Amino acid sequence: MTTATRTRSSAELIGAEEPVLAHNYHPLPVVVARAEGAWVEDVEGRRYLDMLAGYSALNFGHRHPALIEAAHRQLDRLTLTSRAFHNDRLAEFAERLAALTGLDMVLPMNTGAEAVESAVKVARKWAYDVKGVPADRATIVVAADNFHGRTTTIVSFSTDETARAGFGPFTPGFRVVPYNDLAALEAAVDDTTAAVLIEPIQGEAGVNIPDDGYLAGVRELTRRAGCLFVADEIQSGLGRTGHTLAVDHESVVPDMVLLGKALGGGIVPVSAVVARREVLGVLHPGEHGSTFGGNPLAAAVGTAVVELLETGEFQRRAAELGVVLRGGLEALVGKGVVGFRSRGLWAGVDVDPALGTGREVSERLMREGVLVKDTHGSTIRLAPPLTVRGEELRDALETLGKVLGQGG
Ligand SMILES: Cc1ncc(COP(=O)(O)O)c(C=O)c1O
Repeated sequence: MTTATRTRSSAELIGAEEPVLAHNYHPLPVVVARAEGAWVEDVEGRRYLDMLAGYSALNFGHRHPALIEAAHRQLDRLTLTSRAFHNDRLAEFAERLAALTGLDMVLPMNTGAEAVESAVKVARKWAYDVKGVPADRATIVVAADNFHGRTTTIVSFSTDETARAGFGPFTPGFRVVPYNDLAALEAAVDDTTAAVLIEPIQGEAGVNIPDDGYLAGVRELTRRAGCLFVADEIQSGLGRTGHTLAVDHESVVPDMVLLGKALGGGIVPVSAVVARREVLGVLHPGEHGSTFGGNPLAAAVGTAVVELLETGEFQRRAAELGVVLRGGLEALVGKGVVGFRSRGLWAGVDVDPALGTGREVSERLMREGVLVKDTHGSTIRLAPPLTVRGEELRDALETLGKVLGQGG
């Protein structure tokens, strides 16, 4: 080895990033070097409870032993074939993922944005081939304040100016309606509508939970209108809310479910479109693909993730610990918290703006050994690994109370 191996401090490493790394993020000033379960450790050896869990990509915690073992086993055998050939891991992954979600077919991709892009293409193709929408006239109805990823097409239907400004021209064919408003949705749907694409809970928007009946209403409305219901469960799915999928809270089965983040076990990027056969069946060879999508390493890790979820243990933990989270937050209302929304182990917490921005509160929590992420304004997001222990969660809530008690 010829490179210098001197260990650099957090401050040095943060400074070293500045000139060479694109400034598309504003990370908290913590430099993580290792992690286990719900805990991470920085380069100086300080430990932090990870209450963000990679935006739900780490639902099973850091380096879950079953997932690491599955990855190691696969690394020793076969990592990539491309879809030019079959690999011996993909069929099992697809079968078990379809069974887990109650749907029929799987289109494996890598990132969340790719799954969304794929769903947009599949919905349009379905509209032309099956519904009979005239060529290039298909529309997709989406919700205001959505977050579905960062590609040019996806930001075309974002309502967040920071995500959009400077990136046009945009992809046409999208209609935006207010979230949680069935009347507005009904008014926007017509003969050209291929699909309604929504997050069952809007994560980036601050864990916006729609009224009871909204998801069932979307299902009913799309069925009546003869268009597809596409649920983006990339952040809300795979145990986070106390069920396998957030739509399960209303016993709703969409036509397409988009999964990502936790599907890769925090190890590799794995995403998927899971759908009814009549929908994904519109794709033919050559019409869509990805070099890495469905690779054997991803399939092995994804299968191990599905196996964990098949036990129901993680969904149960999220539901049970969700009660602890909710109780802890209720106790802070009026004591620095002005409101919150939570489902399972997922919460958007609005702190009193007089006490600081979400960013400032996140920095104070970091100094106390708890990692969270702010979203807009004075809202912070809590999404610990589903493996977090009750005492750890209670401690984190106590720390939040302490930090808010300290004022601005
Ligand atoms: C609901 C939802 N959809 C899509 C994405 C995009 O996923 P990725 O960052 O893997 O492209 C995200 C990421 O936060 C998300 O929360």
